[in-house]
Amino acid sequence: MPLALRRPRPQVVPRATRDDAVISLRGVSKWFGSNTILKDVSFDVPRGKTTAILGPSGTGKSVLLKNIIGLLRPDEGEVLVDGEVIGTMSDKDLFRVRRKFGVLFQDGALFGSMTLYENIAFPLREHTRKGEREIREIVHRNAELVGLVAHLGKLPGEVSGGMKKRAGLARAMVLDPEIVLFDEPDSGLDPVRVAYLDELVVTAQRETGATFFIITHNIPSVMRTADHLGLLFRSRLVRFGPKDVMCASDDPVIRQFLAGATEGPIGMDEMADGGAPPAQAGAAPSASTGAP
Ligand SMILES: Nc1ncnc2c1ncn2[C@@H]1O[C@H](COP(=O)(O)OP(=O)(O)OP(=O)(O)O)[C@@H](O)[C@H]1O
Ligand SMILES: [Mg+2]
Repeated sequence: MPLALRRPRPQVVPRATRDDAVISLRGVSKWFGSNTILKDVSFDVPRGKTTAILGPSGTGKSVLLKNIIGLLRPDEGEVLVDGEVIGTMSDKDLFRVRRKFGVLFQDGALFGSMTLYENIAFPLREHTRKGEREIREIVHRNAELVGLVAHLGKLPGEVSGGMKKRAGLARAMVLDPEIVLFDEPDSGLDPVRVAYLDELVVTAQRETGATFFIITHNIPSVMRTADHLGLLFRSRLVRFGPKDVMCASDDPVIRQFLAGATEGPIGMDEMADGGAPPAQAGAAPSASTGAP
């Protein structure tokens, strides 16, 4: 892969400040009607690293991500990006902060009527005044990173799921974002394509120095890509910490989830796991967050 062609990001944070938090959640709760989705979630995402948030289906991972980019606002608590509280800021400030993010949505979210080229170019046309020549150069540089140069003229409907994901990743990276958010990048892909995508994620993170934040329930993928892990269960963050610490944890929920085992506190009914804890669920784990 011709990675050498990619220019280094100009705004890579100096090494001395690389370990601070780029995203912080402070006691974030979110509910829809009587359905509590997130309850008192707090953690810090270290800058320039890859962080993964895990959790059973329906447990509120996508809701969490939407709170981080300001598409949803917390009902309690706050989300800070580079120290700025985003839930209460004006639309103008939110637009400015969102410029720091590249997002790869769960379904790729490509525009079906636009070619891959136009899809990847879209953020540049929306957010910059760059001319066609520069846009072409940037689109090609990012398409090379994800191995799609030969397919730029195709529509999303004409390419495989893996190629759509790669196009989504190229589009997420095109503005040289400080933070790249992924919502289940592996969904709909076979294990080999997931492994290739993971390699791409690791390479792209190393090369750009950006903060990568991945929402997933794919354990092998997390083991390949993440430096830090958090686990959501029954609306709460069970724990957040460095991957090796999480892997050595004796918390039954963490052990069961990382092992993909059927025995343990996580049950078959994902809606029960995902929503507010049932009244009698004294066994529900208490949230304990740890600094990374
Ligand atoms: N706008 C909304 N209004 C009402 N309920 C919502 C809304 N968005 C999400 N929910 C509910 O919040 C819960 C969590 O949804 P979410 O999409 O965050 O789950 P998830 O962890 O991302 O699941 P998956 O792994 O399947 O993607 C679900 O019960 C869902 O129905
Ligand atoms: Mg989701």
